[in-house]
Amino acid sequence: MIGCGKVSEEKNVPSNPTFAEHIAPILAKNCLPCHRENGAAPFSLEQFSAVKKRAKTIAKVTLNRYMPPWPADPNYTHFVGEKVLTEEQIATIQRWVEQGAVEGSVGYSYKAPESYRSSIRKPDLIIPFDTVALHEGDLDRFFISKAHVKLDRKRFVSALELVPSSMGLIHHANGHLLLYAEGSNTETPGTVRKMETTDAMNSNSFEKMKLINVGGPLPNRIHSAFNYLPGVEGVEYPAGIGGYEVTRDFAAVMNDVHYGPSDTNTVDKAVLNVFFTETAPKRATGELMLGTNGVSKIVPPLVVPANKITKHSTRYTIDADISVLTINPHLHQLGKSFWAFAIKPNGDTIPLIRIRRWNFNWQYFYTFKTMVRIPAGSEIVAIAEFDNTAKNPYNPNHPPKTVAERWDYGGASMRASDEMFQFIITYTPYQKGDENISLERKTTKP
Ligand code: HEC
Repeated sequence: MIGCGKVSEEKNVPSNPTFAEHIAPILAKNCLPCHRENGAAPFSLEQFSAVKKRAKTIAKVTLNRYMPPWPADPNYTHFVGEKVLTEEQIATIQRWVEQGAVEGSVGYSYKAPESYRSSIRKPDLIIPFDTVALHEGDLDRFFISKAHVKLDRKRFVSALELVPSSMGLIHHANGHLLLYAEGSNTETPGTVRKMETTDAMNSNSFEKMKLINVGGPLPNRIHSAFNYLPGVEGVEYPAGIGGYEVTRDFAAVMNDVHYGPSDTNTVDKAVLNVFFTETAPKRATGELMLGTNGVSKIVPPLVVPANKITKHSTRYTIDADISVLTINPHLHQLGKSFWAFAIKPNGDTIPLIRIRRWNFNWQYFYTFKTMVRIPAGSEIVAIAEFDNTAKNPYNPNHPPKTVAERWDYGGASMRASDEMFQFIITYTPYQKGDENISLERKTTKP
């Protein structure tokens, strides 16, 4: 059904829907989290007049399921925080717009959720990074960025969430935590440093960014403690699963923040939302990465000739039972579709995710509603299609030119104009009963 642009006649569609009674509740829950002042979307829908002005477009983008953005096919698998309108809701919006977008009785309540920028809950601590000025005509730019923090005591962190100030500027960021032994840190709390870089971190940048704690012991480092891709939202697991213990003195470091080409003069100020818990982490999570930079080969190799549509797969057999928490499919702008599943040793299939229309702007980390067990000996399969024709509206090249993975930067290129095919699985070793552990957020936004 997805994307076919047709809605069947539904019984539960009111014959004369009004904004006050029927539309406001749908939009408040499904649209205002982004379409509000300083939200992720480029315009606010917080006023009835703003909604009315765009009524026709709203009818169109909800009918074709472009909005709310949720590339994963809800007929294949379900995830926490799924943003999908029901057929009835879509039909109600259609009818309301056809009948002239009537407001109805006044005095109803139509409010954006509380205005902190988090998809999890109100952050316990917000760490600001240094601002980055971007200029019209800038090509890809890369930074290392660091922010120092001092807490009143050691804490357990249950989740970290990077939030850029404007949507779509950061193409990716990879973040670590540096944990300093008591009294060994020489930076003042609140210190931020950044440097622009063209290559990976080296001894020069280590020194310049004071990452080595000159004169003191090396800080402990938690790798990949937080990551960002366009559209990602934070994830907080149930108490005791995942998470870290941080020392009183710590720093958040992004070793590569990648800003894509900018078409305006603008400033980005990213913050790191920190969520604390009183429960010590008991079960560590790991990451299994298939495809580019990962444990499994891409077949055939990732080369997408100009004016061609290609299909590639990558497969990996696991040797122990795992419980999957979160998955992240990752392609760049030529991505067309993505499909992943596991084949159990007995031949049964475990569906993981199906994205029929890839959208570079919405690369969620999809968290399952309950953990998904994949038994030892299963083969995990990911299949991706790429569209390098002029018909692909996201094609960065006009006319199209051959695009591939590139390895000449000391690792796979992260540039959005080169391609990647990655499937990242966050998991924890399986324990009996995991299938019944709910990963739904304890506190969701209204
Ligand atoms: C997760 C954040 C998010 C949610 C939720 C969301 N939007 Fe959007 N919306 C965006 C962003 C970002 C854009 C601009 C980029 C784009 O068009 O993809 C956008 C663009 C739009 C546009 C302009 C499309 C165009 O072609 O010009 C409309 C209309 C819209 N949204 C309506 C809605 C409606 C109605 C809902 C709820 C049913 C909704 N959005 C939910 C983030 C969101």
